[in-house]
Amino acid sequence: MSHKRVVRFLLSASSVWGAASALAGAVPDLYHGADLKHGEQLIAEHKCTACHQRKFGGDGNAIYRPAGRINSLGALRGMVEACNQELNLGLFPEDVTSISAVLNRDHYRFK
Ligand code: HEC
Repeated sequence: MSHKRVVRFLLSASSVWGAASALAGAVPDLYHGADLKHGEQLIAEHKCTACHQRKFGGDGNAIYRPAGRINSLGALRGMVEACNQELNLGLFPEDVTSISAVLNRDHYRFK
């Protein structure tokens, strides 16, 4: 994965998405339309955790670092979209949103 490309993508994605991240809730407004159940299924289906576990050990959750460079709802969604493209997962935009909403609920807790 080209790190530079991902970072550049993240910067452009977060400026578009970051603008709207005002209101909080179980599913933040920015992730409007997210389907949490479907997001959980997609995360299992695409073996996100299996790969993260190989790279980071433990239960694979150590990779999710809310205090790291993923520091907003927009950046989180941008990262999931970047993985989608790099790994050729073929996820639809609403799938990316649903996955991001699950990761936010379980790990990042951005408002
Ligand atoms: C082939 C291996 C692989 C797969 C499959 C994979 N990832 Fe990743 N993922 C990585 C690696 C490696 C990193 C760390 C990249 C870095 O730090 O530069 C990462 C980082 C991330 C991060 C950023 C974590 C943080 O806080 O910095 C998120 C979010 C993420 N992945 C989501 C996903 C999701 C969602 C899926 C499944 C749809 C997925 N990944 C599938 C390898 C993978």
